[in-house]
Amino acid sequence: MDKPKVVLGVSGGIAAYKAAELLRRFTESGHEVRVVPTASALHFVGAATWSALSGNPVSTEVWDDVHEVPHVRIGQHADLVVVAPATADLLAKAAHGLADDLLTNTLLTARCPVVFAPAMHTEMWEHPATQENVATLRRRGAVVIEPAVGRLTGVDTGKGRFPDPAEIFELCRRVLARGVTAPDLAGRHVVVSAGGTREPLDPVRFLGNRSSGKQGYALARTAAARGARVTLVSANAALPAPAGVDVVPVGTAVELREAVLAALPDADAVVMAAAVADFRPASYATGKIKKKDGQEPEPLALVRNPDILAEISADRPRPGQVVVGFAAETDDVLANGRAKLKRKGCDLLVVNEVGERKTFGAEENEAVVLGADGTETPVPRGPKEVLAETVWDLVARRLV
Ligand code: CTP
Repeated sequence: MDKPKVVLGVSGGIAAYKAAELLRRFTESGHEVRVVPTASALHFVGAATWSALSGNPVSTEVWDDVHEVPHVRIGQHADLVVVAPATADLLAKAAHGLADDLLTNTLLTARCPVVFAPAMHTEMWEHPATQENVATLRRRGAVVIEPAVGRLTGVDTGKGRFPDPAEIFELCRRVLARGVTAPDLAGRHVVVSAGGTREPLDPVRFLGNRSSGKQGYALARTAAARGARVTLVSANAALPAPAGVDVVPVGTAVELREAVLAALPDADAVVMAAAVADFRPASYATGKIKKKDGQEPEPLALVRNPDILAEISADRPRPGQVVVGFAAETDDVLANGRAKLKRKGCDLLVVNEVGERKTFGAEENEAVVLGADGTETPVPRGPKEVLAETVWDLVARRLV
């Protein structure tokens, strides 16, 4: 089989040096990469680096090797074009169809999926001109990754940071796997909760659960690759932030509820993959609870936490919002799942069997997705990404 052909466009931002790592990930995993930098990108990283790492010639202008008509050929033959980093200037040119160098010509001739990984200062990212250009590109079907929040070039921090190259690579791999299928969640905002809540007893102890957050992170990652804007409310998950996803870290069930409700008003879909504690300690000891010689411990008093899934299913701020729940069951899996779907009032319920060695922390999952309309979609054992894709297929069908 031919190697997948990737065009890596690099525009002139300091994050260009991080694109070298992205390039390595592509070449080491069997992709044929043609790097097309802009002239200003070469101020940051020279042509020799791109050429040596890709094993292919590098040019910025349409005037080199004219007999090969590169300004048309490179785009036409690509399976994926990824521009990383994409500067405000490059996004503006792409949105308006300008074609004054090899990269912008390539963007006009490409018929394959296109991914932009913007990196710039917060002010430039937030400027209405940039935001309108991003909206235009997304409307046309490009995947524009949300920049990460963090340290920028100088001493300042904010939104605009180039996401982790490993995460951009993962997103590109998913986009490539989907092929030319239009990003069906483009223009949508989805909220995903992930991980497990921790309910503090005292400053050093908590009641928690064994959820790793991997399923919720897979849902966030796959939604971003399908073009969605993603808010990931993450409870205590020790996982890297997926590229292009807004991560809201939380600790307890009450904090998770607040974060989900805050993101809800303009959300098209909510997937509650987090393992939310049903109970929390009735009181919190501000000092460490000490054992007392010769005395048995006090019994632990618990109170109920709010049922977030039931609450957002019953009270949807936006008509047509799709709500998805998860059910972890140990016995009578399907019967319990059906009863839970009714009780919670959500549109879809992903039911999986859990146990000591099943599902928690594993890379694979097996489930049945129950629909309020009576449908049943079995998902055979496989990577958590496969279950995530099935969930989004079912959600996309229900979005109006
Ligand atoms: N959930 C929630 N708020 C809670 C508890 C759970 O939103 N306080 C959500 C979870 O995110 C998940 C779904 O509800 O999507 C199912 O959680 P589960 O703990 O299995 O359901 P319970 O209502 O706790 O049912 P039971 O204790 O009977 O298993």
